[in-house]
Amino acid sequence: MRKPLIVANWKMNKNVDEALTFLHQILDELPDYDREEVGIAPQAFAIYPMMKAVSQTPLQIIGQNAASKCNGAYTGEISVRDLAAMGVNYVMLGHAERREIFKESNRTINQKLLTALREGVRPIVCTNGEQKMVGQHNSCYSIFRQLDNVLTGVPVSQVTRIVFSFEPTDAIGTGKHADLETAEHGCHLLRQEIGQRYGSQIANQVRILYGGSVNPNNIRLLMAAPDIDGVLIGRASLDADSFIQMMNYQQMALAQVM
Ligand code: 13P
Repeated sequence: MRKPLIVANWKMNKNVDEALTFLHQILDELPDYDREEVGIAPQAFAIYPMMKAVSQTPLQIIGQNAASKCNGAYTGEISVRDLAAMGVNYVMLGHAERREIFKESNRTINQKLLTALREGVRPIVCTNGEQKMVGQHNSCYSIFRQLDNVLTGVPVSQVTRIVFSFEPTDAIGTGKHADLETAEHGCHLLRQEIGQRYGSQIANQVRILYGGSVNPNNIRLLMAAPDIDGVLIGRASLDADSFIQMMNYQQMALAQVM
């Protein structure tokens, strides 16, 4: 049974005051942890005050990124060991924006992944491709090449600790989410590929998230797809009311959004 995981990726938005105000607005509305996991990935400096604010709740505070080194002369970097020391359980790695804007390579992401696993923080490994190309050979190839190089050296015993995401580049921040078929197909292909590498038993336990213009109107439908175990939400997660609706998507009537 794969527990749904709903993640707000705030990107470079919200200062500490805004982040804490947001928590205040949503904490009473958290869904039952037995049914679903919810997380927020704020800017790095907001992690500590947010961790303190949520210590009595099941809400996960998630790193948006971390370095492959744990300490030393790496100005501006974030140590996954120190995230772990604060009690952070998850860190996003290789988001499309890290790859595109900051030119992170698969090899870099692989090093970060191995370090995060070693330090006991569960990686959310992001993959991306062109929405319109999914299902065609080129796009599959590029997603799987990302996966191939990123997973180098990961022991089989650690694979189910990793969460994967599929975010079509042209659905990120555009307001145009992938149609259901494409979103499901991308996640399905990812699972299939993990199955080929590690066996279907492991692939069936791994959680795969869809990301790209998820909002209160489409989340219920996306979450009903068999291979979509959760979502990464950017813009629509910045508004508390909108996020409350999305983290409680299980209570939405499907008819309401069709
Ligand atoms: P949007 O929801 O703003 O499209 O962002 C998606 C994303 O990048 C989540 O990681």
